Amino acid sequence: MAAYYAGQPKRNPNPASLGELPEAIVRLVELGDPNRNIPPCSACHRPGWGGPIETPILSEQGRDYLAQQLRMYASGERRNDVYARMRVIAAKLTPGEIDGLSRYYSAGFR
Ligand code: HEC
Repeated sequence: MAAYYAGQPKRNPNPASLGELPEAIVRLVELGDPNRNIPPCSACHRPGWGGPIETPILSEQGRDYLAQQLRMYASGERRNDVYARMRVIAAKLTPGEIDGLSRYYSAGFR
């Protein structure tokens, strides 16, 4: 496992399009929030490729699209996620976090 992850390319957020992002957003992506039982987004959504089976690639998708999907999971309007994985996560995010996470992923990676 360790060797596998060590062999992965380093994540390089694209500074040109990323701009200033609050540390809290980067922490959510990389570490999640154990206090609220939120797993790190990057556990499943890795840049350039999806994670576990059926996980979509988020990098460089439109910011508005991503935010809209997160709000729709949170409200239960979008309910096609198996085991409600995204619904459970999105319901715990604040509007500010949804905005920040959408910016983070829409910025893409080098
Ligand atoms: C346990 C794995 C897992 C984690 C952790 C996870 N996701 Fe997801 N995510 C998925 C899966 C699987 C889907 C596809 C679900 C579906 O078919 O609706 C998805 C879908 C999405 C989509 C919709 C993408 C699209 O193309 O429509 C967005 C946006 C998203 N996730 C954002 C996030 C963010 C932000 C986080 C961190 C707060 C996160 N996800 C954490 C597994 C995960």
